[in-house]
Amino acid sequence: MQSAIGVGLIGTGYMGKCHALAWNGVKAVFGDGPRPVLVHLAEVNEELARQKADEFGFAKATGDWRDLIADPDVDVVSVTTPNAFHAEMAIAALEAGKHVWCEKPMAVALADAERMAAAAQASGKVAVLGYNYIQNPLIRQLGTILADGTIGTVNHVRLEMDEDFMADPEALFYWKSEASSGYGALDDFGVHPLSLLQVLFGPVTRVFAHLSKPYADRPTREGPRRAVETFDTASVLFEVGSDISGVMALNRSAWGRKGRIVLQIFGSKGSIVYDQERMNELQLYTASDRSTEQGFRTILAGPQHRPYDRFIPAPGHGLGFNDLKIIECHELLNAISGASARVIDFSTGLIIEQAVHAMFESHRRGGWVICG
Ligand SMILES: NC(=O)c1ccc[n+]([C@@H]2O[C@H](COP(=O)([O-])OP(=O)(O)OC[C@H]3O[C@@H](n4cnc5c(N)ncnc54)[C@H](O)[C@@H]3O)[C@@H](O)[C@H]2O)c1
Repeated sequence: MQSAIGVGLIGTGYMGKCHALAWNGVKAVFGDGPRPVLVHLAEVNEELARQKADEFGFAKATGDWRDLIADPDVDVVSVTTPNAFHAEMAIAALEAGKHVWCEKPMAVALADAERMAAAAQASGKVAVLGYNYIQNPLIRQLGTILADGTIGTVNHVRLEMDEDFMADPEALFYWKSEASSGYGALDDFGVHPLSLLQVLFGPVTRVFAHLSKPYADRPTREGPRRAVETFDTASVLFEVGSDISGVMALNRSAWGRKGRIVLQIFGSKGSIVYDQERMNELQLYTASDRSTEQGFRTILAGPQHRPYDRFIPAPGHGLGFNDLKIIECHELLNAISGASARVIDFSTGLIIEQAVHAMFESHRRGGWVICG
């Protein structure tokens, strides 16, 4: 095993900071694996790059991400830029012989996602996507409960993802309202619940979707209003695994919802409910309980739900969003070292992208569409 790994980070916004925190924390939390060396950071200009490199602890800074890709001291590249840049940056990094940790969604166009998957395969390098919610120790536990047959045969799944960061009709038009960022809630957003489906049940097989725009236009910084090009809500019927029916509802204009990803799983012997807004709890109902005592019980996250134990030995204290990113970073390092790893790599990521594009095609055509 190599003792150190050189890290490059492109982008320092919301997700860039999460990656920086993960690279800074992963060795302290897990103790094993190579020590990340924060080598090079890229932003849109030299000044911002230098400022963020100092804050995050990176040695070199550049206003041109291609300098970072060309740096021989960089072994792995975090791509945390807006969606439209993912394909170009990830493919360049892979072609330069770097491992890649790229934020979701994979790319805006399906053809770009296909090129990314092909580049990853051709490079022989590790390329994984930022599907952090699959890393929650309680989502792992949920998988164990399903595998143990505790709720019997699963027959129906209901997914909801809601946030309110675009709920205000007067919020400024920005890149997430531009068609260059993708379809909207579906790919920016819906890929997260789809990542949960993928790890728990496998690929979505067919879909029937309807997308909508709560607001036709938004104000711009310059003044005049601009037509919104993306769809902030989506309603989808789907089938997943072997004959499991499902419903998915997405809304990024949902006042009051802050980080809601609700997953309800119904089986022949019970049900499970998970909500990301209460990410340290799992609700389990088993029909075998005495009828006088039936009801959902709350399973609270603790060190018995690995790798919670690596963060803190005390139960009930809870993990947070950035901890999921640290776990994801550790899984990436496992994959790089050749160990088994819980990641969504570019080839599995492509399956999620195919489902997303099938959903848009269904919306366009108005009928069921087969995925893949
Ligand atoms: N995994 C998650 O839960 C999650 C959450 C939010 C966003 N995301 C994803 O992360 C990505 C970034 O989103 P964000 O919310 O961090 O956006 P952001 O706008 O906060 O940050 C993007 C950063 O990229 C920089 N940037 C843009 N073009 C660049 C270029 N050519 N070279 C270098 N830097 C450049 C910007 O200056 C900015 O600092 C998106 O793909 C988004 O979908 C993932």
